[in-house]
This record gives sequence, structure tokens and C-alpha cells, in this order.
Amino acid sequence: FLVDKANYRHFMAKEIHEQPEVVGHTLARYVDMASERVALPVKLPFDFNDVQRITITACGTASYAGYVAKYWFERFARVPVEVDVASEFRYREAPLRKGDLAVFISQSGETADTLAALRYAKEQGAHTVAVVNVPTSTIAREAETVLQTLAGPEIGVASTKAFTCQLMVLAALAVAAGKARGELSDADEAKLVQGLVEIPRLIAAALVAEPQIEKLARDIAKSRDVLYLGRGTSFPIALEGALKLKEISYIHAEGYAAGELKHGPIALIDETMPVVVIAPYDRVFEKTVSNMQEVAARGGNIILVTDAKGAEEATVDSLVTIVLPDMGSAFTPIVYAIPVQLLAYHTAVVMGTDVDQPRNLAKSVTVE
Ligand code: G6P
Repeated sequence: FLVDKANYRHFMAKEIHEQPEVVGHTLARYVDMASERVALPVKLPFDFNDVQRITITACGTASYAGYVAKYWFERFARVPVEVDVASEFRYREAPLRKGDLAVFISQSGETADTLAALRYAKEQGAHTVAVVNVPTSTIAREAETVLQTLAGPEIGVASTKAFTCQLMVLAALAVAAGKARGELSDADEAKLVQGLVEIPRLIAAALVAEPQIEKLARDIAKSRDVLYLGRGTSFPIALEGALKLKEISYIHAEGYAAGELKHGPIALIDETMPVVVIAPYDRVFEKTVSNMQEVAARGGNIILVTDAKGAEEATVDSLVTIVLPDMGSAFTPIVYAIPVQLLAYHTAVVMGTDVDQPRNLAKSVTVE
């Protein structure tokens, strides 16, 4: 097949902008909008009531989709979840019980460590579900159940649209689990599905912040280090933001759980250090605000990514506030992924790096 950049300078830019559409396609495959129910495209060969534990395994960006999903599965379905990078999971001989659920997430479906982890889980008698973008891939062929993301071909080495589509599939699966286990009522399910249906439009609205982010990128490009903070489901988005920036701009960045700030990274904060805070106005917002106060007190430059309500309530001076649309659902990470992708992208463009083919990185790591 032939994929071109359309009118974009890089595949990564095109793929970032495709997200309202491809996340929308993925949504349409996993929910029935008319009845406001989750409707998985395949019948699961197990009952969520028999699942005592879920393990989620992946590499890179896909592993951060797994970290977000942990919060959703635990909250909606009250089932304990463990998340691991595949290179650790495969060698630590993790005990899996027969009938437990092991979920694997991979854009390419060919990542060597993820594939080895899948084979290990199968040997242990776990049910295996693969969330993959390439339906003909080895992981798709070998998993018991395949849940496909409909991101379309992703060419940029740094994953963007595959990530948000993975989140969409995992969100639907977590709601399905909650429903099956009786933790969610029909009304709860309908409300959550309404939240998911809003996502493509909210992603499009988040993309509107691009000119502001492009301007901010000129300052970020002058930094030696950047810290990303978030709590709850925004914590994995902080990790993803830092990973993206490192990968394509080569600026050192770290993602941290905001509450861990005082256990280490606070020592690094001075007036040269930008701190990107991912903080939708959610149940942990106030806690994150107090961490921002700690950053501000040490002269750190805060870049706050929030919504209108958060911007109003944050009692801290930020250098820049990026205001995303208000959203009442638990699915904020699918939308808050967008500004961190854009910030990494535009910083890399300012730095003049090879955005689609960053040095030393491969799109799919098929060797250990
Ligand atoms: C490489 C890519 C990343 C990707 C990771 C996992 O490191 O550069 O963008 O997240 O592999 O790839 P997968 O295909 O398994 O999702």
C-alpha cells in the first residue's frame, strides 16, 4: 500500500491530526451508539466473573496505554490489575493462574518481548487478549482473542494515533468488564458510553490548541530537561509526554506521579526547568494543585494542561495554561494525549531533528 503525508510536513503530524477520525472508527467498532452499550466485535471466550486478576503487558507507548487501563479496570470492574513492560514480565516468571486474563498491547503486533510474554502467558494457561493494530501480525495470530485498533497504518516511529485507539479499545473493554461483573448498572454503562462517544469531537477540539503549543515549543526547545507530572489516569500521560519528547527532540524528560515530586524530582527544580502538569479538573485535581504550588515556590516554570474549570480553580501562577474542553468523563487521557504529542512534535521541529525517523529508534523492535 502507499501511504503519503498528504499536506503535512511529517507523517507524525498527519497521524496526530487523523486522531478524531481513527479514534471515531475504533469507537464505532466497540460501542453501539444507538443503545449506548458496549458491543465488542468478538465474543470473549471467558467470563469476567471468573477473572481474579488481569495482567497487562506491552512495550513503550503501548505500555502507557496499559497503565491508563489499569485505573479503568480497577475503577469500573473492581478487578486487580498488574501492568508490566514485556521485557520484565517475560523473565520474572510471573505467576499466572489458569483462567486469569493476560492482555497484550502492540501497534505492530511484532514486538519481540511482547510476543515472548504472550507465549509465556499461554503456556501458563491464561486467557490472552491482544489489542493490536496490524491484524495479520504474529501477536494477532497467536492470541486467543484479538481486539483490533482501527488506527490505520502508522508510519512515524513515535506512536501517536495507535496509542489513542488502544485507549479507546481498553476503555470499552473495561466498561464491558464492569458490566459483566455487576459493578456497573445499565445506567452507569450508558453514561460511560456517552462519555466515549464524545471523545472524537473532544480530540478535534484539543487540536485547536496547536498554535499555542507551537509557540510554547520554541521555549521548550531551549531547555535541557523537562519534567512532566500527573496523578491518576494523568500519570501515564505524563510518562507518555516525557517519552515522546525524549524520542523525537532528544531533550531529556521525565514523567512522574505528581505525589512523588517531593521524593526526588523536586531537588531538580529551578527557574530553568519547565514542568508540564497534566491536570484535568477531576477527583485528584486539588492534590495536583498543591504539587504545583511546591513547584512554583521553587521558581519552576509551570505549563498547565487543564480545562476551563481547572484553569479557574488553579491557585498557582503558570507560565502557560493550555485549556482543553471540559469533559465530565473518566476518559480524559484519550484527549490529554493530544497536547503532549503536539508539544513533542513542535519541539522536535524547532530542534530540526528527523521527526519520523529519530536516531537509534525503530518502529517495531522485532529483536530482543
Ligand atoms: C518502539 C516504537 C514505539 C512503540 C514501541 C512498542 O519502541 O518506537 O513507538 O510504542 O516500539 O511497539 P508496538 O508495535 O509493540 O506497539
